[in-house]
Amino acid sequence: MIASYPLCLGTAMWAWTVDQAHAFALLDQWYAAGWRGIDTATNYPINKDPQDFRKAEQWLAQWIQMNGVQDLQIMVKVGAMDNSGSPDNNLSPSFLSIAHQHYTDLFEHQLDCVMIHWDNRDDPMAIQDSVYCLLECCSSEQQVGFSGIKHPAAYQAVMENMPYKPLLQVKHNPFQSHVDYYKDLWPFTRLLAYGLSGGGIKLSAQQNESTGAKARGVQLEPHQERIQFLQAQIQRHNNTFPEVSIQHLHHLGMIHAYLNEHISGLLIGPSNVDQLTSTLFAYEQLKAQQDIFSNLFKAIQ
Ligand SMILES: NC(=O)c1ccc[n+]([C@@H]2O[C@H](COP(=O)([O-])OP(=O)(O)OC[C@H]3O[C@@H](n4cnc5c(N)ncnc54)[C@H](OP(=O)(O)O)[C@@H]3O)[C@@H](O)[C@H]2O)c1
Repeated sequence: MIASYPLCLGTAMWAWTVDQAHAFALLDQWYAAGWRGIDTATNYPINKDPQDFRKAEQWLAQWIQMNGVQDLQIMVKVGAMDNSGSPDNNLSPSFLSIAHQHYTDLFEHQLDCVMIHWDNRDDPMAIQDSVYCLLECCSSEQQVGFSGIKHPAAYQAVMENMPYKPLLQVKHNPFQSHVDYYKDLWPFTRLLAYGLSGGGIKLSAQQNESTGAKARGVQLEPHQERIQFLQAQIQRHNNTFPEVSIQHLHHLGMIHAYLNEHISGLLIGPSNVDQLTSTLFAYEQLKAQQDIFSNLFKAIQ
């Protein structure tokens, strides 16, 4: 049976705003809490520093070796040639075979999912070649997935014919959502939402604490009106349900994604153990008391 990812720990900011000690502490806590899903990519961190190319995957491999861990479920996005953030990539079958072999060597049986990343092509035949090559490389325990697909229509035929519903990563937060962009692929995929808080947008009083948003160059100005609207909705919710009050915009992002009927899992990107603690707490609360959050969810659609 192929694995699912109800909640998955992201590594995009490792070796960028998250140093190695914090990344290892996050892994310790994640693993101790019983979670196993990890998301990474060849180009993490996308900080444009060539010396950091592949550092997130290297740290993950080091932590695994140091701790003798054998049961992670690792999802890797492949195709990038560097960590400059350039859309140029290599999704040829030969390159994908090499990438699959590299990650099999690095993570062995803990490699669960290999994702085609940032595909700008619109040629269904070329796409089919890439997907069939990866399907052949993957063992029956592994799965092929997708992230940053520019032309969903060109993917539809190949996805329809896959032996399972593949995972598809989509940006989704109260400021911007790509869920509808992939509407035609909903019946054939399982969506994983990322960017739950727009890359680290905070409620305005907390904004100066944000390092992630600054590093990524997130522009706050265009969102001011929406932030004020969301603050008012949170205030209303907190007045009505003080026992399940919301303190961080990230929690609102989790509600916004978790209660979306098309989304099957959440990718989270905590910077430190306090954030991970609050994320895990909020997730359990959300799972147990969905009804309480449903009015808020409807209000922020
Ligand atoms: N498919 C793709 O193209 C793609 C793109 C992006 C991400 N992803 C994956 O999805 C993961 C998550 O995405 P993302 O980093 O963009 O998510 P995000 O939730 O939009 O941004 C993460 C930032 O939110 C803040 N944050 C997280 N948890 C918090 C909490 N509990 N309380 C307060 N602030 C909190 C932190 O900001 P501060 O550091 O400023 O405190 C953190 O850096 C990535 O690590 C990556 O694995 C995939």
